[in-house]
Amino acid sequence: MTEIEKIKKTAEFLKEKTNFTPQVGIILGSGLGGLVKSIDIKHSLDYSDIPEFPVSTVEGHDGKLIFGILEGKNVVAMQGRFHYYEGYSMQQVVFPVRVMKMLGITHLFLSNAAGGLNPAFEVGDLMLIKDHINMFPTNPLIGKNIEELGTRFPEMGEPYSKKLINLAKSVAKENKIKFQTGVYVGSSGPTLETPSEYNMFRILGADATGMSTVPEVIAARHMGLTCFGISIITNLAVTAGMEGATHDEVQNAAGEAEPKMTLIFKNLIRSL
Ligand code: HPA
Repeated sequence: MTEIEKIKKTAEFLKEKTNFTPQVGIILGSGLGGLVKSIDIKHSLDYSDIPEFPVSTVEGHDGKLIFGILEGKNVVAMQGRFHYYEGYSMQQVVFPVRVMKMLGITHLFLSNAAGGLNPAFEVGDLMLIKDHINMFPTNPLIGKNIEELGTRFPEMGEPYSKKLINLAKSVAKENKIKFQTGVYVGSSGPTLETPSEYNMFRILGADATGMSTVPEVIAARHMGLTCFGISIITNLAVTAGMEGATHDEVQNAAGEAEPKMTLIFKNLIRSL
């Protein structure tokens, strides 16, 4: 089967199973799944029950695809994403995004946990992603272009919707939520950066660094989806090394910031 045939097969399966047409796709980073509590869930499917979906190799890591209504809009949410460092191919990493587009989404919302590079950032900050730098060793669009999805050389002039970023800023201000705006650099991981690598990313112009989001947004923009992303700063890269980088601290930071991110996502989705 070709890639497009697989994408269509999975989309057909989901259409038949759910009889649901989502308008918004949501990808929730690990520890950032609280938004799901606000969704009026119509269908919830384990990834392992969806044909052609990448098979999770990590035990106890089974993600879910959730269909439901959020703020009056039909949404499909990925609870758990596929990371390149897990050993998936780039095509596998972006497969769900392509399936969600086939189902009808026009907008993609993404969240992630990231390390702060900007010295003004603090642990627990929310960063509205205004742009990204792809430092993965590859790109999900490498290979024969799938013309049905998009053009060979997609432009990346506005990867993250300026309109949605501006709206997010006013929502944050209205609700007295502290926020940052910045550039996300994505690289493969799974190692965190060395001090010199953090320094390099900062010099390159990035404000936060993580191991996801960039491939998904590349695939989404290829297909013309409007994207919006938030990073939660879970640790700081300082010249002397890492601050607050223990697993517990990362989880606490994500947990505390999550409700604020959820509030922004909900307000933006309501406005669509
Ligand atoms: N580097 C890369 N990915 C991350 C980090 C980091 O410091 N923190 C959370 N995800």
